[in-house]
Amino acid sequence: MSLSGKQLVVGLTGGVSCYKVPNLVRLLYKDGASVQVIMTDAATKFITPLTLESVSQRPVAVRMFPEDEYVATRHIDYSDWAELIIIAPATANFMGKIATGISDDLLTTVVTAHRNPILIAPAMNPGMWENPVTQKNYNYLKELGHKFVDPAAGEMACDHEGVGRMAEPEEIFEAIKAFLLPVKKKTLSGKKVLITAGPTREKIDAVRFISNYSSGKMGYALAEAAIELGAETTLISGPSALAPPPVARFISIESTEQLYQAVSKEFANTDCLIMAAAPSDFKPETEYSDKIKRNGGSLNLTFEPTVDILKSLSNGKRKNQLVIGFALETSDAIANATKKLSDKNLDAIVVNKVSTNTGFNSDTNQVTLILRDGEPIEFPLLTKSETSIKLLEVLAPLI
Ligand SMILES: Cc1cc2nc3c(=O)[nH]c(=O)nc-3n(C[C@H](O)[C@H](O)[C@H](O)COP(=O)(O)O)c2cc1C
Repeated sequence: MSLSGKQLVVGLTGGVSCYKVPNLVRLLYKDGASVQVIMTDAATKFITPLTLESVSQRPVAVRMFPEDEYVATRHIDYSDWAELIIIAPATANFMGKIATGISDDLLTTVVTAHRNPILIAPAMNPGMWENPVTQKNYNYLKELGHKFVDPAAGEMACDHEGVGRMAEPEEIFEAIKAFLLPVKKKTLSGKKVLITAGPTREKIDAVRFISNYSSGKMGYALAEAAIELGAETTLISGPSALAPPPVARFISIESTEQLYQAVSKEFANTDCLIMAAAPSDFKPETEYSDKIKRNGGSLNLTFEPTVDILKSLSNGKRKNQLVIGFALETSDAIANATKKLSDKNLDAIVVNKVSTNTGFNSDTNQVTLILRDGEPIEFPLLTKSETSIKLLEVLAPLI
C-alpha cells in the first residue's frame, strides 16, 4: 500500500542529520504523499529550505511571524491538515520543548496544537542522548503516545562513537507507513507465490534487441503486496530500472527463453504463479553475432514465435496450483482476455488497457479480474500497489 493522498508535515530541527531528510521527503513524495516541510531556525543553518522545497514541491515554512508574508493562523492550519507529523531529525532541545509544551517557534507550536501522536526520529551526540534529562523527555513523550524511530549506534559527525545517529531515511519511511497504513491480514502466510515482471529482450545482433515498454512496476507491486500478505515470494524480472523489493528470491532474466527456463524451474515448488511480465511474442529467427552494418538498402528480419510460457506451464499444473495471467489489450479487452483464459487453461486473468493512466510504465492501473467461473470484477483506477493488494485479497482464498 502506498501513501498516496496522505498529508504529512515533516519537521526539521537543528542537527547535522538534516542532510538525510531530502531523501526521506523524496521517498514520501514519490510514494504519493503531500509533504509540508517546516524547519526550525537552527535547521536552516544545516540545509537550505530551497533543497527541501525542490523535493517536496511546496514552499517550506520556517518563521512564526514573518513580516513579508500573510500567514494568519497557519500554525493551526498545518496542525489540522497533517495526518501525521514527523520530526526528523529531532534535537535534544526540541524534544525537551515539546515535552513541556513550549511553543516558541512555528514547528513547536504546530506540534503543541496537534491532537494526535507524532513520529520522532532523534539525532544527537551520545552524551546528549544519554543525558538523564533527554532520557526523561524521551520516556515521557513515549508515555504520551508519541512514537519513536530510535537512533542507531555508530560513528557521529563529532567523531564520538555511541548511540545517537538518526535512523536512515528508508527506516523512517517504513515507520511512517507502519504508522499510517492498516496492517494487512496475513492471508497468504505459508503460501509460495511466484511472480514475473518486466519486459524481455530478444537479441537481433551484438548491440540491438526488440522489447516493449513494460517497466516492471505492476509485477514489483504485486511482489510487495504478496510479501505484505505473508507469502514466501519469488520475483523473476526482465530488465527494469526498479530496485528489487525484499523478496525471498529475486531472479533476473533477459530473454523470453530465459524467463521460460526460470519459471519452469520454480513452478513445481509454487502454489500460485502470477505472470505479470510482458514477454515478447516473437523473436528474430536469426541472432547475428556481429553488429549488422548499414549497407544502403533496407533490412528485412524474420521473426518466429517465442515459447508460450503460460500455456506450456498451465497445461501441466497440479490440481491445487493456481496460474494467473495478465492481458494487456488495446481493443475488445474483455472478449480477448476471456478467450486467453480458456485457451491457456488459466485460473484467472487480469485485464488492463493501454492508456496514459494504465498499463505500461504508469504508476496507476485500472484492471478487471476475470475468474474461471464468475462475473468479471472491475477495480477502479488505483495505484499499482493498491491494485495489487486488492487483487491478492480476492485471489487469496483460491490460493
Ligand atoms: C554543528 C552543530 C551540530 C549540531 N548537531 C546537533 C544534533 O545532532 N542534535 C542536537 O540535539 N543538537 C545539535 N546541535 C545543537 C542544536 O543545533 C541546538 O541545540 C539548537 O538550539 C537546536 O535548535 P532547534 O531544536 O530549535 O532546532 C548542533 C549544533 C551545531 C553547531
